[in-house]
Amino acid sequence: MLSPAIDVATGPGWLENPYQPHLARIVRIYRMVPDNWVFTLRFLDEEIGRNFRQQPGTFVMLSIPGAGEAPISISSSPTRPGTLELCVRRVGRVTDALYRLQSNDLVGVRGPYGNGFPVEVMHGNDLLLVAGGLGMAPLRSLLWYALDRREHFGQVTLMYGAKNPASMLFREELVSLVDRTDINCLLTVDSDPGGTWKNHVGLLPKLFDRARIDPRTTYAAVCGPPIVYKFVLERLLPLGFSKDRILMSLERRMKCGVGKCGHCSIGYKYTCLHGPIFTYWDAINLPEMV
Ligand SMILES: Cc1cc2nc3c(=O)[nH]c(=O)nc-3n(C[C@H](O)[C@H](O)[C@H](O)COP(=O)(O)OP(=O)(O)OC[C@H]3O[C@@H](n4cnc5c(N)ncnc54)[C@H](O)[C@@H]3O)c2cc1C
Ligand code: FES
Repeated sequence: MLSPAIDVATGPGWLENPYQPHLARIVRIYRMVPDNWVFTLRFLDEEIGRNFRQQPGTFVMLSIPGAGEAPISISSSPTRPGTLELCVRRVGRVTDALYRLQSNDLVGVRGPYGNGFPVEVMHGNDLLLVAGGLGMAPLRSLLWYALDRREHFGQVTLMYGAKNPASMLFREELVSLVDRTDINCLLTVDSDPGGTWKNHVGLLPKLFDRARIDPRTTYAAVCGPPIVYKFVLERLLPLGFSKDRILMSLERRMKCGVGKCGHCSIGYKYTCLHGPIFTYWDAINLPEMV
């Protein structure tokens, strides 16, 4: 249960206080991969749930009683409202405390924050989604947005790489997309110790050999650890992608989430306000962005 130490929204006043979290109930915990679980949340106040408008690529500040707050990307698509899905890796104080909670317990949520992917601008174009490791968490929202609004996009390609099949996030869901004709779903693992993996084995950038991408009509959305950006850019740029067609989801340490504290600033940009989605053009013009 949420302790009284956390100041929670109880009435319309929350609209005026950007720091006030709203109570949400954990309605499901999917123990997907050790230390990478998916928490499905539903706001207690139905009106707050109805008015919650996220874009793919936005995040929430998740608060746990007595532990604090952490920014977490929304993994579910706005095309499937009613609940929020957060894919959370256990790494420290807040995420540890979250893993100790159970279904029906309450957490605090404020947001959504950040710019998200410019989906309206991307309409009418091909989509290339490239994710490594936990990078699938924010890209999953864009993936389902594109599949649910399929008529708005041309060719949709997903390239996702994990260390091995056991650590692949959303594995069952993604494997079920491999045979679909409305998406080219390319999944790879660095190694397959069990010898049972039926998809690709090899490093993520190798998947570019298996896809036909037209850089003039494609927006590439990339998310993963820094090494992923390095190697994926080495494939995208020679293809002729313009710098504003490469969109990257970048993380910085955050505190307020609303552009007040300066914790997440890079040069003249705040990651929580102007990001976390940046074009490659932004990334090369802001030192230390990647
Ligand atoms: C926009 C955004 C979206 C995110 N989305 C997700 C998501 O979808 N899923 C997810 O699992 N995570 C996500 N994260 C990362 C998540 O917010 C962090 O892992 C967060 O720190 C977890 O909080 P914690 O209290 O559990 O861990 P912490 O106690 O903050 O520790 C996290 C790690 O950071 C190290 N660390 C702690 N303090 C510092 C410091 N001052 N300087 C450097 N390193 C430090 C710790 O040693 C540990 O390895 C996102 C972050 C951002 C900015
Ligand atoms: S987290 Fe405070 S300004 Fe971005």
